[in-house]
Amino acid sequence: MKLLLLGSGGREHALAWKIAQSPKIEKLYIAPGNAGMGQVGENVAIKVNDFAAIRQFVIDHAIDMLVVGPEVPLVEGITDYFKNDETLKSIPVIGPSKEGAQMEGSKEFAKRFMQRHQIPTARYRAFNAQTLEEGLAFLETLEAPYVLKADGLAAGKGVLILPTLEEAKKELKEMLGGMFGAASSTVVIEEFLSGIECSVFVLTDGKHYKILPEAKDYKRIGEGDKGLNTGGMGSVSPVPFADKEWMKKVEDRIIRPTVEGLAAEGIDYKGFIFFGLINVKGNPMVIEYNVRMGDPETESVMLRIKSDLVDLLEGVAEGNLDKRALEIDERAAVCVMLVSGGYPEHYEKGFEITGLDEVKDSIVFHAGTSMKDGKIVTSGGRVIAVSSYGANKEEALAQSFANAKKIQFDKKYFRSDIGADL
Ligand code: AMP
Ligand code: GLY
Repeated sequence: MKLLLLGSGGREHALAWKIAQSPKIEKLYIAPGNAGMGQVGENVAIKVNDFAAIRQFVIDHAIDMLVVGPEVPLVEGITDYFKNDETLKSIPVIGPSKEGAQMEGSKEFAKRFMQRHQIPTARYRAFNAQTLEEGLAFLETLEAPYVLKADGLAAGKGVLILPTLEEAKKELKEMLGGMFGAASSTVVIEEFLSGIECSVFVLTDGKHYKILPEAKDYKRIGEGDKGLNTGGMGSVSPVPFADKEWMKKVEDRIIRPTVEGLAAEGIDYKGFIFFGLINVKGNPMVIEYNVRMGDPETESVMLRIKSDLVDLLEGVAEGNLDKRALEIDERAAVCVMLVSGGYPEHYEKGFEITGLDEVKDSIVFHAGTSMKDGKIVTSGGRVIAVSSYGANKEEALAQSFANAKKIQFDKKYFRSDIGADL
């Protein structure tokens, strides 16, 4: 099979690494990819939302399957684009339709969906510029801290958690005044939930589903989970509190109602569903849906899938996922993210990365790298994910930290407390 994967981050490198191991793969292309992905497949210089260029490439190279890594092309409707094209319609796309992608593309859509299907989530109300006064009044009925969410995609920056009513009111006005452009023309205000978060992933063909290994992600830049939010500084799988009993609640109360709800509403959804969950006194609640895998969770989760991922993806495409095997590795897997100094605020790019050859017994996934004059250089805030196996998370973490120290680039930073809270 010839497969085209869209994306250029650590998540896509981990997907590419796993896909390339499949005996079913004759050729793997990645658009646009990065310096690391060039080692497991062939990078093609096409942007993930350039549908016309993707179409031409798929036709010219007789691609058999398209796997979409990030959310943006899904929210922009790449799956429908393929379906509505005479030449492309027989080529399966792993990723939901534009309507299904609203589960991530609109917080209000996701909230309404959860209400309709009695899926546990924080109580909420949605407001726009016309209903600002009602929004301000609603804030007064809540207790601190206050959670404000831009309805649309905001590159992970659209959620504000404010400690005081004054700040919450001020931010609500700013958000509705265009702080995140069109993404915040509607704002969801919701009840604050207190607990530990856990990311749960499923692969679905629209009818059947497979639950992939869960993971915990470390979002803040600083140790002790302090400081600004980032795309994610590391991940650990499995998550100790996500035991059989808890996962049964997740499946019964959240996963099954979601997959069945999508099907019952006639929403075409074949792909990954990422459930951002929070454990509230032993009960899982949904913080958010994403319509793709998580980053940096994928850099741990892919290590724990023993089965052929491409076989599972074929099951998604053919609607017979129930007939495919998913075997999980019992070992722990972790990832430690090396980032550019200054990230998530201002940082520099273009620093040479050395020491990659010295890494032993870890798997290096590139997140933000590119080739320059034959050298691998930094090209993003998150640069390299160092992923490892271990009999337990401590062993895996020790391995990742040891290798994280061998990789060098100017102003490198990583959190040395990934997994320490679990
Ligand atoms: P999201 O972009 O929806 O993942 O939100 C970003 C982060 O904000 C989440 O990972 C949580 O840490 C936090 N968050 C979002 N909603 C809530 C909530 N209702 N209660 C507490 N924390 C929340
Ligand atoms: N790790 C969180 C996300 O991918 O959105």
